[in-house]
Amino acid sequence: MSLAVIILAAGEGTRMKSSYPKVLHNICEKPMIHHVLETVNKLGPERIVAVVGHKAEMVVKAIEGVEFVVQKEQLGTGHAVSVVEGVLDSFNGDIMVLSGDTPLLKAQTLSNLLNVHRTTGAASTLLTAKMNDPTGYGRIIRAPSGVVTAIIEEKDATTEQKLINEVNTGTYCFDKKKLFDSLRQIDPNNKQKEYYLTDVIKILSSSNEKVVAASANDPMETIGINNRVQLAEAEKILRQEINKKLMLEGVTIIDPDTTFISAEAKIGKDTIIYPMTFISGNTKIGESCLIGPLSRLINCKIGSFVTIDSAVVRESTVEDYAELGPFCHIRPGTLIRKGAKVGGFVEIKKSEVGQNSKVPHLSYIGDTYIGDYVNIGAGTITCNYDSISKHKTVIEDGAFIGSDTMLVAPVKIGRGAFTGAGSVISKDVPEDSLAVERTEQVIVDNWAKKRRRKKGISEG
Ligand code: UD1
Ligand code: CA
Repeated sequence: MSLAVIILAAGEGTRMKSSYPKVLHNICEKPMIHHVLETVNKLGPERIVAVVGHKAEMVVKAIEGVEFVVQKEQLGTGHAVSVVEGVLDSFNGDIMVLSGDTPLLKAQTLSNLLNVHRTTGAASTLLTAKMNDPTGYGRIIRAPSGVVTAIIEEKDATTEQKLINEVNTGTYCFDKKKLFDSLRQIDPNNKQKEYYLTDVIKILSSSNEKVVAASANDPMETIGINNRVQLAEAEKILRQEINKKLMLEGVTIIDPDTTFISAEAKIGKDTIIYPMTFISGNTKIGESCLIGPLSRLINCKIGSFVTIDSAVVRESTVEDYAELGPFCHIRPGTLIRKGAKVGGFVEIKKSEVGQNSKVPHLSYIGDTYIGDYVNIGAGTITCNYDSISKHKTVIEDGAFIGSDTMLVAPVKIGRGAFTGAGSVISKDVPEDSLAVERTEQVIVDNWAKKRRRKKGISEG
């Protein structure tokens, strides 16, 4: 039996008060609709059709692997589904409808729903949930026998109906023909003057078609995101799930409430994540690392036994046993080799720091290759930019860069060479030599004594 999934994503999302379509708001770093799509894809449907409308170009640009149908005017969820009828003309099978704003739904829940639908042979099977606070959702109306007879939207509900806490999650399976036949019968005679998809249930039920309700095991999984308060709730639920999974896999998270890890991140066992840490994108961290507090890793590859304290590291690789921070900024394209140390107030961009080399304090290293066992003195700066182009600095194995050295690139410091503190090095330094580029120190004997006398300052 084939499956076509219709994802409703044409609405403006008025309650978000946003210039962007609702379904493009991020939850744990990904647009809401990406979460929905990933889940839907796990069902392996023959067709996925997204209904777009409000700022359609933006939504179309943000997702792939689906067919798009434009709903020019957003006249309601029922109208949104009816515009898909044409493109599914040749399709034979079950139809699942869900919203682009229910991002926490699990594939297992959807496949259960589909299973119930197929085994009961219902005209429609809807996913319902019992909410502690059902405010805002459509309520499930059941006959005394228990069968579902209608869904009443909050705005159209009586005070009594509002007390019902079983809600419509906006996720349904339908028999194709019965769905589109019913949609032709709905009207916008309701408080919102919209064509409600939910009215299909009443139509099917009153013509004695079988309507089945499948209840979601975890109601929180079904929440719809209509405003930014719900957006934050969804973010929190997803974040807790990610953290929990990692903890069960052997990662210590000192304070899950202040630890933000992307769903894609991979972290090895015995790594400890300290509070206020953000691990984003496709970051991969090895075993037994100490990460944080106050750190941010974006698309990084981190080895094992690495220490990162109060650092921002972007699109870079850090090998085993390296130590970063506190307070350093590692910019894209950097490779910190095994056992290297990068200390406080150091910025490194598009550079390689060799094995066991140290950049311990207050430096800027850009477009630089640093070999193994190099020591970079405090305050060293690679002057890599001449206002037109960037130039490379090469510091070979075992070199010692004196504090406050300016390395005016392009420049090369040979193996084992030294630079004197405070030097401005603008020419290559041969291996094993010392380069000093500064005026020689002048000593004026008794200068201070003479000055004191002249100014009448006592000799105490
Ligand atoms: C809808 C349901 C409600 C259910 C809730 C679950 C209806 C009438 N109500 O309410 O019973 O409890 O979802 O979260 O269906 N959309 C379009 N075109 C339109 C209107 C909406 O594509 O013309 C899309 C929206 O972009 C959104 C989805 O349909 O992704 C649901 O619309 P929304 O306005 O959020 O419906 P709710 O009021 O949440
Ligand atoms: Ca909604």
